[in-house]
Amino acid sequence: MSDRFAAARVKLRGAFTPSQPITDRRMFAGRIDVLTTLIRSLEDQRVHVIMYGERGIGKTSLVHVLTQAAQEARYIVVYVSCGAGSSFDEIFRAVAADVPLLFHRGFAPTANEAEKGGTLADLLPSGPLSPRLVADLFAKMTGTRLLVVLDEFDVCESPEFRRNIAELIKNLSDRAIRTQLVIAGVAADLTELVEHIPSIRRNIFALQVPKMTASEISHLVENGEEVSGVTFDRTAIEFIVFVANGSPYLASLLSHHAGLAAIDKSRTKVTAEDVSIAVDQALAEFRGRISKHSQIQIDQAAKSGVRHVLGVMAGAALFNNGRFDGRDVDALYPSAANAANFKGTIDELAARQILIEVHEDEYGRGYRFAEESVLPYLWILAAQKRFLENRKAPPPEKPADTAVDKIAVQAPATALDKTTARPSGASSRAADRS
Ligand SMILES: Nc1ncnc2c1ncn2[C@@H]1O[C@H](COP(=O)(O)OP(=O)(O)OP(=O)(O)O)[C@@H](O)[C@H]1O
Ligand SMILES: [Mg+2]
Repeated sequence: MSDRFAAARVKLRGAFTPSQPITDRRMFAGRIDVLTTLIRSLEDQRVHVIMYGERGIGKTSLVHVLTQAAQEARYIVVYVSCGAGSSFDEIFRAVAADVPLLFHRGFAPTANEAEKGGTLADLLPSGPLSPRLVADLFAKMTGTRLLVVLDEFDVCESPEFRRNIAELIKNLSDRAIRTQLVIAGVAADLTELVEHIPSIRRNIFALQVPKMTASEISHLVENGEEVSGVTFDRTAIEFIVFVANGSPYLASLLSHHAGLAAIDKSRTKVTAEDVSIAVDQALAEFRGRISKHSQIQIDQAAKSGVRHVLGVMAGAALFNNGRFDGRDVDALYPSAANAANFKGTIDELAARQILIEVHEDEYGRGYRFAEESVLPYLWILAAQKRFLENRKAPPPEKPADTAVDKIAVQAPATALDKTTARPSGASSRAADRS
């Protein structure tokens, strides 16, 4: 028996990998539309692609699956994960070193250099590389297409690097060179990722990676079931889907912890109770990533009942760069009086810089959570509470509300100062993938 569970534990580790992107296509769930769009842009429109989206939304996993598909279609794909100090010169020397000389127009496949395993890097001068020089080199390629994937683009801080990439895209596009770039990174919007690129907007296709749908998240869990042999009952999957809120990272993390919780009890069937344990563990992990200052503020907000509603706002803000506004509040409170009351509380929190602050942008006046790691923590607390309450209480008689409506709570009393009056719900536990 113990052998059997030891084996299940090992398989589970390979089935859900919250700290690693997906590299095995069998484990990749959903995203058919996104992949189709990406492939069409590259193949049919021949544009360069910029993929941006929140942390953990699945950019790197997408890029890996895209890479495999492109390799099968006989592209040469070079994947580069950018670092803080990445330079244009270093990256494109490495790219050139991955392209065999036999794809250079000037070398027959039987030429000595090509046969000896030479690469395009052998043709580069020793001085610093310019975008023009790199484009000249790629222009001489034949018999294949080259895809250069620059992942974690946001990590690289050098404005010169970004300027050079923009110039390279311009060069490649103007000369119809058969090399395309795929750039992926965390950003709220495109301009943040590539501030020098407006001049080449025509030559790029920008894609914001969306959060996953409930059925895609279910697939993610089902894929893991197949690989691990551990199964999840229906309520367990619903619980994971609800808390994950479209994030493959959260779904993978919770599935992993829940699977282990079941195995600890000598079961290979995961129940909602196991997911509850997983949620508590995730909360403990996430809480550890929040500053002491914010932890204290969260605990105070719990006493007023404000924490739960802020948690629901955090759920909306998670995929919106930490931002929410009055429209999110209106969606939460069907009653105008309650909405107005809550907006007042939010304004007060923002004025006192408690967890959130006022944020004006092109969408108007909104709010932002001051600390990124607070968001998943608050959201998971709120989602857990709501899911468990829904399970206990019979469903309301009125027609089904939206998920967000269901989370609506009674209006938080008033000012934070009065917070001590109400007993806190759950004791504070944990929050985010920083
Ligand atoms: N389509 C998918 N199917 C199954 N699991 C996925 C999928 N996409 C992402 N994941 C899981 O979600 C987690 C985050 O994915 P990934 O690392 O690709 O995101 P990312 O957007 O590149 O994150 P970061 O912003 O931190 O670089 C990983 O655990 C990965 O295994
Ligand atoms: Mg990534």
